[in-house]
Amino acid sequence: MSVLQGKKVLLGVTAGIAAYKTASLVRLFIKSGAEVQVIMTPASKDFITPLTLSTLSKNPVHSTFYDQEEENELWNNHVELGLWADLMVIAPATANTLSKMTNGICDNLLLATYLSAKCPVYFAPAMDLDMYKHASTLSSLNSLQSFGNIMIPATSGELASGLVGEGRMAEPEDIVSFIEKDMLSKLPLKGKKVLLTAGPTYEAIDPVRFIGNHSSGKMGCEIAKTAASLGAEVFLVIGPSHQTVKHSLIHRIDVTSAEEMYNACHVYYNKVDIAICSAAVADYRPKNVATQKIKKKEASLSIELEPTKDILKSLGEAKKHQFLVGFALETNDEKVNATKKLTSKNLDLIVLNSLRDKGAGFAGDTNKVTIIDKNLDEKTFELKSKQEVSKDIIAQILERIS
Ligand code: CTP
Repeated sequence: MSVLQGKKVLLGVTAGIAAYKTASLVRLFIKSGAEVQVIMTPASKDFITPLTLSTLSKNPVHSTFYDQEEENELWNNHVELGLWADLMVIAPATANTLSKMTNGICDNLLLATYLSAKCPVYFAPAMDLDMYKHASTLSSLNSLQSFGNIMIPATSGELASGLVGEGRMAEPEDIVSFIEKDMLSKLPLKGKKVLLTAGPTYEAIDPVRFIGNHSSGKMGCEIAKTAASLGAEVFLVIGPSHQTVKHSLIHRIDVTSAEEMYNACHVYYNKVDIAICSAAVADYRPKNVATQKIKKKEASLSIELEPTKDILKSLGEAKKHQFLVGFALETNDEKVNATKKLTSKNLDLIVLNSLRDKGAGFAGDTNKVTIIDKNLDEKTFELKSKQEVSKDIIAQILERIS
């Protein structure tokens, strides 16, 4: 999955011959899962039509502060466009636009949007050889980078003028992979390894029956996806669950029983930076597992249970450098019980959900949590989708490890 998946890309097109390549660029962004809006300088429309870019981006293309053709002369809000974007890409970026960007000139919608944007801005210069080498262009390139903009360097080759040299806009594929690499290198969990437990465990009674619970594994899978999308390599140790997770940074380790989950966790624990135990592990298992299916009888049946190993507690005892996070699912005296678990299991953070809160718990698609850290600082969140909750949990961890 591309790091651009789900990102909002604002593409600014200026008046260089390389503008014809922006059709491919828009296609590539869309293919990588990004949402794209395009703004053009008025003169760039001589090189590629707004209709082409609008069709490919599946969004209207704007180039003026208001659309004259519209009956009501609708104003194109540059501030809104600038704030909408997760990243802005100016390609091709001509000498003229680069110079105006350097000096804060905003005599068209693209430039005004650039000045309003708070997101990272990438620019791909494109111009003729001598323009590219000119002292004023070099000064623009340097200034723009010193402002924090990211340059996608021009390449060498045959230019539209027939001259051969530096100044060609990077190819669309190279622009996309440059941005992907840059974004990946800046992800907050880049280089970090995360161990995650999720789902229920099944404790066998006989070859066909087990003791289990209603955990779906969804909360843990959402945490895995969020951590991976922020650059972490995730070891997801998951009990029986129908959830699917597809991400090149997530290694799924399927287990069935608490014992198997315990063993798998201890294989990975030493090499991880963060461990998060969201699994609903069975606290007890049948002491003796029947090797044959237990036959029905008239008399009542008792199954003797013995405790399983507490995985989270064992990780707390073995803790060295790891940041350890547990969950607490409570029905009463929630904060007291959660705080006890935080201390007794040597945790850095505990995520509490109360079954008294409607929509919370381990079976549905939503959750409502309170996060408490080892200094007993706590934060209560609204009822949210499990995806949103996973972002809150990771944000709380990031605040404490960086
Ligand atoms: N946990 C675990 N191994 C177990 C039991 C629990 O790793 N055998 C972890 C869970 O993944 C969770 C935390 O411990 O992160 C708390 O689980 P919970 O069921 O709320 O609490 P318990 O410690 O089992 O205590 P109780 O059931 O009495 O509330």
